[in-house]
Amino acid sequence: MDLGTVAVTGAAGGIGSAVRPALRREAARLILLDRVPLRPEAANEEAHTVDLRDAGAVAAALSGADRVLHLGGVPDEAPLPDLLDANVLGTHHVLEAARRTGAARVVLAGSNRVTGFHPAGHRTAPDDPVRPDGLYGVSKVAVEALGRLYADKFGLPVVCLRIGSFEPRPTEPRHLATWLSPRDCVGFVRAALAAPASTRFAAVYAVSANTRRFWELPDPAVLDYTPVDDAEDHARGIPGADAPADPAAPQAGPYARPEFTLRHIGY
Ligand SMILES: NC(=O)c1ccc[n+]([C@@H]2O[C@H](COP(=O)([O-])OP(=O)(O)OC[C@H]3O[C@@H](n4cnc5c(N)ncnc54)[C@H](O)[C@@H]3O)[C@@H](O)[C@H]2O)c1
Repeated sequence: MDLGTVAVTGAAGGIGSAVRPALRREAARLILLDRVPLRPEAANEEAHTVDLRDAGAVAAALSGADRVLHLGGVPDEAPLPDLLDANVLGTHHVLEAARRTGAARVVLAGSNRVTGFHPAGHRTAPDDPVRPDGLYGVSKVAVEALGRLYADKFGLPVVCLRIGSFEPRPTEPRHLATWLSPRDCVGFVRAALAAPASTRFAAVYAVSANTRRFWELPDPAVLDYTPVDDAEDHARGIPGADAPADPAAPQAGPYARPEFTLRHIGY
């Protein structure tokens, strides 16, 4: 599919770097945004050094984009003001720029951490209530809510990918449930960017086909990608992989501990 002009925020990051080669093959034009400088690597690439907190700069860079992949932001627990600035306000700026330029699809980087307090034994679906495991998870709940608002109120087509643990390979027991392989990440992102207009809004888990996964895979009618990798194939190399899992423990594992958040609360 020709994806037209695709804009990617947070393009210098781990996921941005992983999806960039595939996107530049399928996009007529690839607009890369990050607050750190990027260099175009192909004739159809252009790079903009933009802080997502600057609404005007975001709007200028996204002008003419047919599709927007919004990856930029703070990717883990941090003080709430930082998360509100980069993740919540930043997403608002991206959605507003996409609305104004008439984009046909926005794909948001959500997170599995919006439901991290559901127990490991509960196979979680996107319509289960949110149970964020920290301030970062709260910011991603707001990201998702902004996406839904823009879809409901303005008709902007939005897919929010609740990304699992994006890693070259699983290295710890939790990854046996949460791993998102680079190959499956590219697959989910491409499918989300190409989702039909009838998918006005969807929040879906982007996770590999892990035998031990906590989350429902997307309905192919909503997002046409079936993941191919399974963390189980790497289990033998992971210390503790055979220890019995507690089905009552939070899916978030160590991220659910109070200390994980308290060290970012400085009052
Ligand atoms: N990596 C994972 O396992 C994972 C899991 C769930 C969700 N996510 C989400 O996916 C997205 C990408 O994750 P990643 O692992 O590539 O993170 P990353 O930190 O490698 O990349 C994020 C990028 O965003 C840029 N950025 C941050 N704040 C910015 C700002 N104010 N203005 C402009 N650019 C800014 C950074 O410079 C960086 O290049 C993030 O939104 C993250 O929350 C990632």
